Amino acid sequence: MSGTLQKYPSSLLNSRQELMACYQRIRNTSAAICAPLKLDDYQIQSIVETSPPKWHLAHVTWFFETFLLKDFLPDYQPFNLDYSYLFNSYYQTVGNMHARAQRDVLSRPTVEQVYQYRADIDKRVVDLLTEIDESQWQKIAFLVTLGLHHEQQHQELLYMDIKHNLWCNPLRPAYLERPRQLIENPSELKWEQRQGGLVTIGFDADTFAFDNERPKHKVWLEPYRLSSRLVTNAEYQGFMEDGGYKRPELWLSDGWCHILKNQWKSPLYWEKHEGQWYEFTLYGLEALNPATPVAHVSYYEADAFAHWAGKRLPLEAELERKLLEIPVQGQFSDSGVFHPQGGEGHYYGSLWEWTASPYLAYPRFKPWQGSVGEYNGKFMCNQWVLRGGSCVTPLNHIRPTYRNFFYPQDRWQFAGIRLAEDL
Ligand SMILES: [Fe+2]
Repeated sequence: MSGTLQKYPSSLLNSRQELMACYQRIRNTSAAICAPLKLDDYQIQSIVETSPPKWHLAHVTWFFETFLLKDFLPDYQPFNLDYSYLFNSYYQTVGNMHARAQRDVLSRPTVEQVYQYRADIDKRVVDLLTEIDESQWQKIAFLVTLGLHHEQQHQELLYMDIKHNLWCNPLRPAYLERPRQLIENPSELKWEQRQGGLVTIGFDADTFAFDNERPKHKVWLEPYRLSSRLVTNAEYQGFMEDGGYKRPELWLSDGWCHILKNQWKSPLYWEKHEGQWYEFTLYGLEALNPATPVAHVSYYEADAFAHWAGKRLPLEAELERKLLEIPVQGQFSDSGVFHPQGGEGHYYGSLWEWTASPYLAYPRFKPWQGSVGEYNGKFMCNQWVLRGGSCVTPLNHIRPTYRNFFYPQDRWQFAGIRLAEDL
């Protein structure tokens, strides 16, 4: 069986001090993201796709307890035996789990108890990192690094879920005060001509990447053009005013059925009041800024817009080839501005970009060994790849080869539209 499983990379964060500092920094960031919340906010789950912030904080802690401490500490005594059931997300090989749609009924443990759980596990992880024998370091370093990347994914989910939870409240409460003005003018839209041919994509370094980014492999691309910036709100309004949501010829069949069934007439978080469009943001309800990138669109809407514009969405290999050429710079959560700014040349950050590529295993893909093999591979069905990271993604979480994925109808993630065209 081991021949079909992906081995752990050997060169991760190398020193114990480095990994411990990284562990503490990332764990503290999760608490910092929740600091602006009121106690009542920790409990909300507005739709099945979102989770209460309290659950996120506990689940990422469960991850370290389950995949690290239980394996490496002989005679491990859990903080609470029930947490294994309550905070397992989808790991069938670990055991049963609480229903995803009912995470908001977990009024116990309390927020205070969840923070105590976090503190307890943190102490034990740091002790383990301090005391573990060198012979076990490689596997430990991998699992801690994986747990930290997992926690960073949940940090992005916290921003996404907090936004949706707050928007569902008719009072439209703000998560934060806006720190600065948004851009007023979009940059000019340009097109970059790019060669096709036989190209290589995928990750092959001996450092951390998710198993779904491996292995490196060859892909054939026809010559193509990429737009220099994301589609703006003003451009998307042009699509809407041209009857975009009323013209079945622009839509994929599944998309058309979905917008009819759900009465979609605009992106998520757009609201019209007295003839003026507004957009709900983490800073509350704001007048729609025509210059900023259109956000919170589904794959169906992105595809329909591209069809209307006479273009198409990029393939993931087309975007990866571009991302490989430029430094990982852009508007990430580290910027402290949790609403997309956009701008020319911003291939990283701001908004995840929908691609026209289904989320599938790369040739010769191997999931990780053990229960963490359930992390990515089993979701390779009916989802689409997004690239580049967003304004709520941590900068040191992203890579050119990073593959995010969502169902085509999902739009509570920070996703936007970049256009491509054939030559
Ligand atoms: Fe998770």
